[in-house]
Amino acid sequence: MLNSIKRFLLHLHPPRVEINAIKLNRTFGLGGMSVFLVSLLALTGILLRFVYVPDAEKAYRSIELLNHFNSAGRLIRNIHYWSATILCLFSVLHLLRVLFSQAIYFERKKNWYYGLVLMFLVFAFCFTGYLLPWDQVSYWAVTVVANVLRYFPVIGDALASFLLDGRFVSEHSLLRFYHLHTGVLPVLLFMVLSIHIWLVRKAKGVAIPQEQKGQLVNTSPHLVYKELVALLILIIAITTLSIFFNAPLSTPANLDRVPEIITAPWYFAGMQELLLHIHPLVGGILLPIAFLIFLIVVPKMGLDEVKVGVWFNGSRQLKKLYALALIFSVLLTVLLVVLSDAIIKDSFNVIWGTVFMVSVYFVTVSGFLIFLLRNLNRSMLSISMIVFVLFTGSYITLTIIGLLRDAQII
Ligand code: HEM
Repeated sequence: MLNSIKRFLLHLHPPRVEINAIKLNRTFGLGGMSVFLVSLLALTGILLRFVYVPDAEKAYRSIELLNHFNSAGRLIRNIHYWSATILCLFSVLHLLRVLFSQAIYFERKKNWYYGLVLMFLVFAFCFTGYLLPWDQVSYWAVTVVANVLRYFPVIGDALASFLLDGRFVSEHSLLRFYHLHTGVLPVLLFMVLSIHIWLVRKAKGVAIPQEQKGQLVNTSPHLVYKELVALLILIIAITTLSIFFNAPLSTPANLDRVPEIITAPWYFAGMQELLLHIHPLVGGILLPIAFLIFLIVVPKMGLDEVKVGVWFNGSRQLKKLYALALIFSVLLTVLLVVLSDAIIKDSFNVIWGTVFMVSVYFVTVSGFLIFLLRNLNRSMLSISMIVFVLFTGSYITLTIIGLLRDAQII
């Protein structure tokens, strides 16, 4: 068994690799572990298909049967759930790793874009899979999120009507989500992931600083054993989580009773929190589009200063500024949420509340950037990275606040 895994891993790598490319702090193994998680999700997903019935009358019951009467089935469902949860987390961390180790420029730019498509696919998987148990929590959360898509310019209505029947999720939606989740998305993911991995090979492995190149070692045992250890730790973590914590399942979906609190899954908690304070058109569509455009132009900015493969471009000053930007974005976001909860939501209608919140945010962030730039070499690279840290810091803060709100801690 171990030998078969070893032979399989050797197919994915060249026979010899740079010694500095396989050190832990180069990639933290995040890309490789994500590939493993995708395979585990495919395997457990295929097994779940044997019992799951994509029918509004029977879907919930089929999951309930697994949960209560079949411990192997329950374990498989839990492994599927925890692998997906960890994959979301690892995809985000992997994105941060490639960005901050300057591995997205020049010949790696194309792979950054394929990575963005992968990120979209991972979240599309989570969104479509979330509805399948057809329980009360998932039914209403999906209804709310799918209705936000309606605000999307030009294709919004068509997109929402494809997923919903009128304003609501129906049995037809369930079938569409099922086919997307188990048919269309897996094929797309397999294609894009194959290109992603091929592009890493084409760029001659992961990015390392120029001066660290030239020391090659055999892939087996040097890299293969490290990968096996990482996989073993991951398998132990997922198995432990799956034994002790069940994937959530609330009561069966009741289409006539809107729950008092509708909670999104944790990876959408930041978006849910944002939508509590600003209009869906701005929070659910315009801001994400602006952030996406930013992610598309990022690998084209500051190319003359980039030191490929060097963490934080080798600048201590930049590291300190990132930390400062992160603290600033956390404080500003908390302040705005408190302000919105205490005053804005009751005193303004949603349009004026949104105008107020967005203006305060952008004016304050711009002021902070201008303040920083007076003490900084005004390079495009540092500006783009600090903007990224500011936005990401705010979104992570919103996610934490959203989770605390869901848990009724605040
Ligand atoms: C399903 C999700 C993903 C999987 C399975 C995956 C897999 C991988 C693997 C195996 C590598 C090579 C080893 C490593 O860097 O750890 C890699 C590299 C890379 N990935 Fe991903 N990836 C995923 C998502 C993403 C995302 C969301 C982005 C960014 C938007 C991204 C951008 C990159 C880039 C730019 C490289 C080249 C890094 C370098 O040369 O140092 N990937 N990916």
